[in-house]
Amino acid sequence: MKGTVIHGALGSHNTDMLIIFTAEDEDSAEYKTVEKLLGDDIKALRESKEFTGKKLQAAMLRTPKQAFKKLLLVGLGKKQEVNLETLRRAAGTAVKVAREFSDHLTVPFHDDKAEGLDQAIQAITEGIVLSNYKFLKYKTQGLDEIKQLKRFTIIVEKTEQQEKAKQGLHRGLILGEAANYARDLVNTPASDLNPATMEKEAKRLAREHDLDLTILNEGKLRSRKMEAMLAVGRGSPVKPRLLVLEYKKRKAKEHLIFCGKGVTYDSGGYNLKTKMLEAMKDDMGGAAALMGMLVAIAKLKLPVHVTVIIGAVENMISGNAYKPGDVVKAMNGKTIEVANTDAEGRIVLADCLSYASTLKNDGIIDIATLTGAAMVALGANAAAVCSPTDGIAEGLVAAGDVSGDRAWRIPMWDDYKEDIKSEIADVKNLGFQFYAGIAAGAIFLQEFVKEPKKWAHIDMGAAVNEERERPCIPKGATGWGVRILTNYVENR
Ligand code: BES
Ligand code: ZN
Ligand code: ZN
Repeated sequence: MKGTVIHGALGSHNTDMLIIFTAEDEDSAEYKTVEKLLGDDIKALRESKEFTGKKLQAAMLRTPKQAFKKLLLVGLGKKQEVNLETLRRAAGTAVKVAREFSDHLTVPFHDDKAEGLDQAIQAITEGIVLSNYKFLKYKTQGLDEIKQLKRFTIIVEKTEQQEKAKQGLHRGLILGEAANYARDLVNTPASDLNPATMEKEAKRLAREHDLDLTILNEGKLRSRKMEAMLAVGRGSPVKPRLLVLEYKKRKAKEHLIFCGKGVTYDSGGYNLKTKMLEAMKDDMGGAAALMGMLVAIAKLKLPVHVTVIIGAVENMISGNAYKPGDVVKAMNGKTIEVANTDAEGRIVLADCLSYASTLKNDGIIDIATLTGAAMVALGANAAAVCSPTDGIAEGLVAAGDVSGDRAWRIPMWDDYKEDIKSEIADVKNLGFQFYAGIAAGAIFLQEFVKEPKKWAHIDMGAAVNEERERPCIPKGATGWGVRILTNYVENR
């Protein structure tokens, strides 16, 4: 998508579709300007209560006598409650209406407060890019009828605002498109995105963004004693890979490591799933978020040092597959009783975290579609964060608030350790019944981290997929994780 910033009066700009945001209890500066230009027509719309400015309400007016041919009003709700997410969602709402009529829209943003202008424009841009997303890779018919924006223009009032606005636009485009890239990966069917094709994609990514890439194939995993992730992958003809991507700028103050669950398909194994089998191509959502984050970090040229470790594995059934009751040994030497082959993500991550712990680092964060329990706890719009350290958990939650990828902390009380004790091995990959599913996953993973005080776990089992459709999130993969993690890395 192409975005442009210009400056000048909104009434003289030729466009098919002018978008005006305004609150319900206070008219915005842009609204006042169009009110002056249009007079009675727009007043009638207000007086009839067809448009009140209620949050995300939209109303369109044809304005043939103006330089703009149509006007789309979008409500922001109560002025005091407007935040960056309101702007994102308002922009997302505008896109869905506007693209039915035109492939271009124009948003004037005349807030005279200089501070925060870049952030507001960034949020609007993200909203536009995220909302306009469609997964069309597999469509061959009717492509001509698909309505999508091709470009948008943002108008600021004064020349001196242009620089900041351009920065916001630049960042918004990068973050929105990086999230859309992660969505493409997650939406791709598992038969086309398996551990082997994921390796290919990692190679392409490394080439495009000048990242270092290390690949541990089956043989290397074996010689590194990463028997846990090998066991999970044993039922698939496509063998596991560990993909290590590194982005390093000389000015970096610290080295952060991210581990991603890259289960390209999760059948459940011999604890075969009975539900949501069609959704289990999403089980590499953690890995996809990290790949998207790397794209954003590289394009923003952040002065950081980040290593991404992806455990790419397919969890299948076959005569060769691992079985409930098996005991497997992770790279750090701890043994795991496989109480349930469907709790495979934590077994894969056990090796990823063990491997990460052998590298010198200032922090490790893992991200995974680990549990269905995350859906029960937080609903579809947020992920759970677990960490023994307040600072890291709070930092992630704060990054979630600003970026729009929401996160909320779940405690890791010591008591949960009892739940993962095994009769025959060091730990088992299951907690007590269905109690505290998110925390049981986290407490298990902690066993494989050398310095838990520097670590956090993110369970995005709920956030990876949208079933209903929200203002900036079409149905399907959400791209959750790209924005929160990029924000966290940048502000840590
Ligand atoms: N990949 C699933 C978790 C999941 C389920 C993510 C639904 C997104 C939507 C994971 O591997 C899994 O199956 N977890 C089990 C764990 C249980 C056996 C302890 C679960 O949540 O049921
Ligand atoms: Zn599973
Ligand atoms: Zn899984």
